[in-house]
Amino acid sequence: MDLTPKRASDSATEMVQVVLPNDTNPLGFILGGTVMHLIDIAGAIACHRHTRTLLVTAAVDDLQFLHSIKVGDLIILRSRVTCVFTTSLEVQVDVFSEETLTGRRQRTSRAFLTFVAIARDGARVRVPKLLVETDEERRVCEEAQTRRAARLQRRLEVSQSEV
Ligand SMILES: CC(C)(COP(=O)(O)OP(=O)(O)OC[C@H]1O[C@@H](n2cnc3c(N)ncnc32)[C@H](O)[C@@H]1OP(=O)(O)O)[C@@H](O)C(=O)NCCC(=O)NCCS
Repeated sequence: MDLTPKRASDSATEMVQVVLPNDTNPLGFILGGTVMHLIDIAGAIACHRHTRTLLVTAAVDDLQFLHSIKVGDLIILRSRVTCVFTTSLEVQVDVFSEETLTGRRQRTSRAFLTFVAIARDGARVRVPKLLVETDEERRVCEEAQTRRAARLQRRLEVSQSEV
């Protein structure tokens, strides 16, 4: 296992695809579930590039859809690792729409996901540290630690709630 620390830029990912009729609701807007699927994929790719391990999605923070993305437009997803813990890491995924005829771009969502690195037998795997080099990267990682504390508290509450 190569635990050489990496920069966020080493794993940052951009995915672009055109919204096709099969991805849309009767109004011609992309389905929320399709956007969520793409967010999961974009987040996973950045985390795979950082860890080079198998991963599972452990948590997706609350998600907002600020604007619709219509059939024929582009959906752009940018993911970057924000902070690395021991066997888990957080990734930020920003989603944009781009009108194909005008190039007008709008941010439509921002999501934070947590992935856990696992081996084939399900054992947790340590992940390479993140090289944090700028003040902005330091701030982003500190904010991720605050989100992680809230997330783990929420996990406790969900796991203790009645069936
Ligand atoms: C995620 C999963 C591996 C965690 O397993 P677990 O036995 O609870 O693991 P642990 O408590 O030892 O936690 C392992 C790491 O994951 C983190 N973690 C686990 N659940 C988390 C959550 N809900 N949110 C954020 N981090 C979480 C822990 O903080 C720990 O991180 P660290 O090693 O970096 O400190 C397990 O719950 C699982 O397999 N869930 C299903 C995953 C899946 O199938 N996802 C697809 C969508 S359903």
